[in-house]
Amino acid sequence: MSALLIMSASLASPAQSPQQSPQAACATLAALNFAHTQIQQAAVVETGALNLGPYSAEDHTQDLYKKLPAFCRVVALSHPTPDSDIKIEVWLPLSGWNGKFMGQGNGGFAGSIGYQGLAIAILAGFASGGTDTGHTGSATESAWALHHPEKIIDFGYRGVHTMTEFSKAVLQAFYSSAPQHTYFSSCSDGGREALMEAQRFPADYDGILAGAPAYNWSSLLSRAGALGYQVQSTADAYLPAAKVPTINQAVLAACHKDEPADFLADPRTCHFSPATLLCKGAETDACLTPAQAHTVDALYADLHLKNGKLIYHGMLPGGELGGNGWPGWITGEKPGAGEGNAYAQGYFRNMVYSNPQWDFKDFNIDRDLQAATANTAAQLNAVDPDLRPFKARGGKLILYHGWNDPAISPLATIDYLESVQATVGPQEAASFVRLFVVPGMQHCGGGPGPNAFGQWGPTFNPALDDAAHNITTALIDWVEKGTAPEQVIARGNTDPTGNGKGADFAQPICAWPKAAVYKGAGDPKTAASYTCTATK
Ligand code: BEZ
Repeated sequence: MSALLIMSASLASPAQSPQQSPQAACATLAALNFAHTQIQQAAVVETGALNLGPYSAEDHTQDLYKKLPAFCRVVALSHPTPDSDIKIEVWLPLSGWNGKFMGQGNGGFAGSIGYQGLAIAILAGFASGGTDTGHTGSATESAWALHHPEKIIDFGYRGVHTMTEFSKAVLQAFYSSAPQHTYFSSCSDGGREALMEAQRFPADYDGILAGAPAYNWSSLLSRAGALGYQVQSTADAYLPAAKVPTINQAVLAACHKDEPADFLADPRTCHFSPATLLCKGAETDACLTPAQAHTVDALYADLHLKNGKLIYHGMLPGGELGGNGWPGWITGEKPGAGEGNAYAQGYFRNMVYSNPQWDFKDFNIDRDLQAATANTAAQLNAVDPDLRPFKARGGKLILYHGWNDPAISPLATIDYLESVQATVGPQEAASFVRLFVVPGMQHCGGGPGPNAFGQWGPTFNPALDDAAHNITTALIDWVEKGTAPEQVIARGNTDPTGNGKGADFAQPICAWPKAAVYKGAGDPKTAASYTCTATK
């Protein structure tokens, strides 16, 4: 047997003495010594036997769990500080381990482990780890942070780093081998976590996939609250969700070109005036009152300090529609009910001011951003453009962001890329960081554009899991084979409701600043009809 074969054989199954069953090898992990960490459970979950408690009939993740191979499930609690309570799970396939580790991130304020990501990873042969980042709750809850500065640090960056180091120790103990390659993939707050890892802990991961990163947390949530609460704080100024389709149709009528569905290839070139929708007679859902038109103008406007400094970008036209558009994130079904508001209000109450009575109605960007920066930037903002240590260890970073994202502006992610380019040099940057801006995609996925491109990992459809169609595979190939991704073919569906009842289409998404441009001939629903072209 060649040395290589001996090595891959030892990688494929747990290190166990000849008499030891995989169950026993897994159970021995309970004795693993890792600083400040208690292992609560180390036991094999047999094939298809994962039970995470009651679930609804609509929860299709259960179908995924039934397909899982037997794995060793390690559950631990880590207490790097007396107020820390970081739950971690590490899942290790008993056989067929591909020698790699995939770390999972979180959405919103975290509070639970991303089991679906862990499941997809081990089904594809990875060992995987995830964490709740130190508290339990739904992604929009933040009361846990009130008067708990160490928990804010656990959420900010310590939880994911602790999970990563612990997972590596568990892998070493179980397989008698360090992972050959380590990856981290997540979106939104998970994109922020991804950038924290690249910036603060460059040794942790070889390859990082960061979707729609909420990296400049303080500015982002200042804007979310300013738009959601302050701009719409009177009954007149509130924009009812029922008016949003009218606005979207008017935007598309003004700016849509030859894209295959109802989205804009590049919303930056669309200039739309809400005044064109002013009611001429009685108010209906098909028109805007002057106060509502003023609100829409304010939603599209950038947020500045009094001295003119840009703090955050306004909404881009074209992404208004749907539950994952303005009605879900910005306007809500009633005043103050948008999801962005929950994050903004919770952040300022529980993290910035430690005052549950604090109210956005009195928000003052100059005063309150200063407080947010002073009290939380060091813990939460992942804005450091100096990725040279990550590059020096051979790290590769792929960012992606939808043009129709109503929660986090894609322009902010372009800003971050440009800050890295300015710090390390544009050519150096291209050798280890790439951004894919996705037309018509909403927050992390969905929307009328081509929005499925392997951002959640393998899809288990061999035709779609190669580097040409799957951005996770493209990242792995970049790390392991040195092939930098220029484009990935993404799929979408023309049904604007997102329920998949329309026609399927495909289009390349391109390494920024290139964008997919229609060749002028051929079926616009086919990827071959587009080329990635420099458009900046
Ligand atoms: C998210 O994780 O989805 C998120 C976090 C902060 C602001 C907006 C979205």
